[in-house]
Amino acid sequence: MLNMYPYLLSPIQIGGWKLRNRITMAPMTRSFADDKTGVVGNDVVEYYKKRAGDGVGLIITEGIITSPRAKGTFNLPGLYTDEQVMGWRRVTDAVHEEKGTIIAQLWHVGRLTHHKVSAGLPPQAPSAIRAEGHVHRYGEPFDMPEEMTKEDIKETIQQYAKAARNAIQAGFDGVEVHGAHGYLIDQFNSEVSNRRTDEYGGHLGQRLTFMKEVLHAVMEESGVDRTIVRFSELKDDAPDYKWEDPEAAIQTFIDAF
Ligand SMILES: Cc1cc2nc3c(=O)[nH]c(=O)nc-3n(C[C@H](O)[C@H](O)[C@H](O)COP(=O)(O)O)c2cc1C
Repeated sequence: MLNMYPYLLSPIQIGGWKLRNRITMAPMTRSFADDKTGVVGNDVVEYYKKRAGDGVGLIITEGIITSPRAKGTFNLPGLYTDEQVMGWRRVTDAVHEEKGTIIAQLWHVGRLTHHKVSAGLPPQAPSAIRAEGHVHRYGEPFDMPEEMTKEDIKETIQQYAKAARNAIQAGFDGVEVHGAHGYLIDQFNSEVSNRRTDEYGGHLGQRLTFMKEVLHAVMEESGVDRTIVRFSELKDDAPDYKWEDPEAAIQTFIDAF
C-alpha cells in the first residue's frame, strides 16, 4: 500500500494543523453520550485515546450537536453546556497525550428528527416540508418541521458559534461544520427542502447563504485555519438524490468559499 501512497505516513501541515501523517478518521456517530445531559464519559475518552494511540493523523469526532433542537437520535453528545465542555476536555487531553490531533464536528439535524427526541421542541427547517422516512433508532416518522423565521436563523447561527467557542475551550484543535447528508445546512442548500423566497432561498448560490453565515460565525471563534466544512450531494433521507449538474454544483460551492 505504501508503494501506492508513498506520502501516507509522512507529516503534513494543513492550515493550522501539523499532522504526523495523512490518515484521517471519518466522523462517525457513536451514541455513547448520556441521553439527558449529552455529556461524554470514560468510554468515549478511551475510544478516541485508542485511535490516537494507534497513530491516526487527524481525528474528526462524531457529529456533536449545537443545541437540544439539533438532536436527531438518542445518546448524542453536545457542546452547548459547561458540563459537556468538561467531558470533551478529558477526551482532548487524552488524545493530546498520545500526540494526536482532534477536531469537533458540529451538527444540527434540522427536520430529520422528532420532538420526542429533541427535548420536546418541534424540529425546524428552511421550509415546512416533512422529510420522508423514520427517525434513527426511534422508528417514528419524522415530524413536520416549523419554517425557520429570520430570528430562528440568527439564533441557530449563534448556537453554532457558541459550540465552536466551546470546542476551543474544550481543547479541540479546530472544528468541522457538518454541511452534508441532508441535515440542517444541507436542507438550506438543497432545492428539495428549501422553498424560501427570502435571501436564504432561490438559486443554489443564494441557498448557500445560510452555510456561509454559519461558517463566518464559526470561523470567528475557531479561526479560518482551524475550520473545515463537509458538504456532499448524499442525503441520509434520500439515498437516490443526485445533483443535476455536479460540476456546476461543486463550482458554486467553491465560489461560495
Ligand atoms: C456508523 C456511522 C456513523 C456515521 N456518522 C457520521 C457523522 O456523525 N457525521 C458524518 O459526517 N458522517 C458520518 N458517517 C459517514 C462517514 O463519515 C463516512 O462518510 C461513510 O462511512 C463513508 O465512508 P467510506 O466511503 O469510507 O465507507 C457515519 C458513518 C457510519 C458508518
